[in-house]
Amino acid sequence: MRVPAEPAHLTDRDANDTSPLMLGDLPPLVHLPLPGRKGRALLDSLARLESPAFTARRARREEKSGAAQDPIVWAEARGSNVLDADGNRYVDLTSGFGAASVGHAHPKVVAAIQSQAPRLLHALGDLHPSTGKIGLLERICALAPIENPRAVLSLTGSEAVETALKTAVLATGRPGVLAFEGGYHGLSQGPLAACGYAASFRQPFLEQLNPHVDFAPWPSEQASVEGALADVAAHLNDDLGAVLVEPIQGRGGVRVPPPGFIAGLADLAHEHGALLIVDEIFTGFGRCGAMFLVDEYGVEADLLCLGKSLGGGMPVSACVGRGKVMAAWGDPSGEAIHTGTFFGHPLGCAAALATLDVIAEEQLVARAERVGEAFATRLRQVPGVVSVRGRGLMLGLELQRDVMVATRALLEQGYLALPAGAAADVLQLVPPLNIDEALLEGFCQALTQVLA
Ligand SMILES: Cc1ncc(COP(=O)(O)O)c(C=O)c1O
Repeated sequence: MRVPAEPAHLTDRDANDTSPLMLGDLPPLVHLPLPGRKGRALLDSLARLESPAFTARRARREEKSGAAQDPIVWAEARGSNVLDADGNRYVDLTSGFGAASVGHAHPKVVAAIQSQAPRLLHALGDLHPSTGKIGLLERICALAPIENPRAVLSLTGSEAVETALKTAVLATGRPGVLAFEGGYHGLSQGPLAACGYAASFRQPFLEQLNPHVDFAPWPSEQASVEGALADVAAHLNDDLGAVLVEPIQGRGGVRVPPPGFIAGLADLAHEHGALLIVDEIFTGFGRCGAMFLVDEYGVEADLLCLGKSLGGGMPVSACVGRGKVMAAWGDPSGEAIHTGTFFGHPLGCAAALATLDVIAEEQLVARAERVGEAFATRLRQVPGVVSVRGRGLMLGLELQRDVMVATRALLEQGYLALPAGAAADVLQLVPPLNIDEALLEGFCQALTQVLA
């Protein structure tokens, strides 16, 4: 049977008509079983067409958790709501891997894309750039807490990290990278080598990965900062060109380091002639209640990697570096030895500029701090929640119940949340920064039922 690309009740609707469903800030409305009939038919196609890795992962997770792990198929999303192919409505506490910090399809972001698309859909990257690319570079360099900043735009987080790693080699002449156990920086080959999230991700490709990468242990928030820095110091050597770190490990399980750790790392790196690359792809743009955590920690990164939220749902990323460090790119041969067809894409730049406006106008940085604190306090009162950690609206919960089973039960109550940590033992909550607080209360009630 051929499956229509979109269910009829969605395609028949006028794109501007939000009245029947009013997606945005609505509570869940879900009919079991999940996925429904249309979703199952679409998933059958998917299983035939997509890399078997994803189907195998689902099967393995189902076996491990004892609960079905079939996904739902997203058909529409607006604000904090997602609608699946069967018309079920969910509240999204994933922000689509942290990218929809201003909510899905924010009207200002959509309007910016709509106005940009007919004017200039694609330009000539770094050769004949677009107005939007230059506008976005101005905004990013004005925002980034970096001395005399210069930036390279790209599409994905992995690409931003790759730019930073290459910059460090050019600037220091040293191949060594120190990263952290549990850290996640993307899976293209440069970042993968420094991805401490799980050795199994690197293992099949080891022979093609940078062999000069070492991993230091990641300290817990309660660890002594002196001890944690001493552990790092044991991994430093004269080959080291870069220390690569997330200010809070996101995918690794919302793991917050002890106060002073990132600042201490900057000192250690600099004492050894290495650069500090801070990966704020997940934590940046207000997610953790600060525009950037490096600001809050009082750390000046040599290179800062940005992505996810920046594009408001479009793929846009950036590596911003100190002028002195980025100057290394001017050396080689006058060639643009690091570029990409779609880097600085006009649609992405338009979306990013609108997203930065929304973050400012809706005061989302301060809101994330205030709402995140209240949400964390409320979550601590839910029986069966063992611990709540994180900052702003990046929270990680340890539960008395298996997290994968709890995630599935929450989905069936209409709440989208993801397990984090290599052992999938942390429930990660990263809702849009402008989510209605009533929906967070609804989530707490659903979680109470799930853990009862
Ligand atoms: C901290 C961090 N860095 C880098 C990445 C990679 O980004 P992308 O998946 O866009 O390549 C991620 C993605 O989750 C991330 O959380």
